[in-house]
Formats: sequence, C-alpha cells, structure tokens
Amino acid sequence: MFYLPEARDRALLPHDPFKAMVAPRPIGWISTRSLSGAVNLAPYSFFNAVGGKPPLLAFSSEGMKDSASFAEESGEFVWNMASFALREAMNATAASLPRGTSEFDYAGLETAPCVKVKAPRVKASPCSLECKVTEIIRLKDLSGAPMGNILTIGQVVGVHIDEAFLREGRFDLAAAQPLLRCGYTGDYATIDVLFEMNRPI
Ligand SMILES: Cc1cc2nc3c(=O)[nH]c(=O)nc-3n(C[C@H](O)[C@H](O)[C@H](O)COP(=O)(O)O)c2cc1C
Repeated sequence: MFYLPEARDRALLPHDPFKAMVAPRPIGWISTRSLSGAVNLAPYSFFNAVGGKPPLLAFSSEGMKDSASFAEESGEFVWNMASFALREAMNATAASLPRGTSEFDYAGLETAPCVKVKAPRVKASPCSLECKVTEIIRLKDLSGAPMGNILTIGQVVGVHIDEAFLREGRFDLAAAQPLLRCGYTGDYATIDVLFEMNRPI
C-alpha cells in the first residue's frame, strides 16, 4: 500500500497510523518554572534525545503551550522519566489547567529541587535531567509555512538518578519501567525485556 499522507483512504485507515508507526516514543515529562515563579509539568511524546556530546534533548509543542513558553522565558526545563508506576500521575498532568496552577499539586506529585535550574523535578521519577535551552525552532512545512509547532532543544546540565535503579554500575531500565507512547490515543507500553546485540566491527 502507498498513499500520500494527506490523502489516505479513510475507510481503510480511519485513524492516521503515523504515530503508531513511529513508536514507541519516550515521554518527555517536562517541568518548567516561569520567571514569575509559576511551576508547570506536562507530558510530550514528540520528544527525544537528539545529541550525545554534549547530551541534548528536544520536545515539540503543538502550539505555544505553557511548557514551551516557560522554557523560552526562563531558558530552562527539566525532563523527568515517566515510569509505569507514575502512569496515572503522568496522565493527570496532561490536563489543561489555568496558567499558574501547578500540575504537581493537581496530580498529587511531590517536587524536589534541582541544582542547576530553578524548575523543580518530579521527586518520584527514577531519573531526571536538568536542561538549559540551546535553541528554539519554529517548525515549518515543505512550503515554508509555519506549522505552529515549537521545537525546544536543551543541553543537559545536571543528572539525577534514584540509586535504587542502579545495578552493577548501570541504570536498570527494566526495573525503572519507562512509560512509552504507542500507536493510537490511549496506547502505551513499557519495557520488561531487554536484549543485547553488538554492532559489527
Ligand atoms: C502521553 C502524552 C503525550 C503528549 N505529547 C504531546 C506533544 O508531543 N506535543 C504537544 O503539544 N502536546 C502533547 N500532549 C498534550 C499536552 O501534554 C497537553 O496539551 C498539556 O496540557 C500541555 O501542558 P502545558 O500547557 O502545561 O505545557 C501529550 C499528552 C499526553 C498524555
């Protein structure tokens, strides 16, 4: 089957499979703090690591939401791992609350302080990465028209790991059970099986 993305057969594919194909995606559970001190927390699945040396993370906001706006004005954001154990809380933080209402309080989550940035982190997350914004890109489509998405890129400047998830010097991903965004609305996965495969020399 081949189709143009804007012209799929809606009888055959009533829901766009794009997000089911590029899956699973890690969840960017992003905490931010505005210059006036308002605290925000929200999940973003248009999120990933985009560089290693130095480590860079990026999340894409479909429209100027609080996370992107607070990250832009403060120059900082924090990524928190959303684990299976925190799934309900993660979901609650996707609620559209009035600006200035903290999703931490709304979802019953405790904050913990960061070291290099002013935004708090999710205390119960297996790990969190403090970031300073390096670039903000207003995304465009093929015709050059702005599509309304804001890509915020940040460099990791601080790393928090809950030592309960360290085994023999490694971060134990199977124990941390990161929540992963899958195909269609409401679909998630987590990891319980890891296997090793080495690159060809
Ligand atoms: C698992 C999950 C992933 C999401 N991913 C995105 C995303 O990549 N981009 C986006 O703009 N909204 C995404 N959303 C919706 C936002 O979380 C939601 O609009 C939220 O209210 C934004 O909060 P904020 O305005 O406090 O930043 C996602 C929601 C969920 C539950």
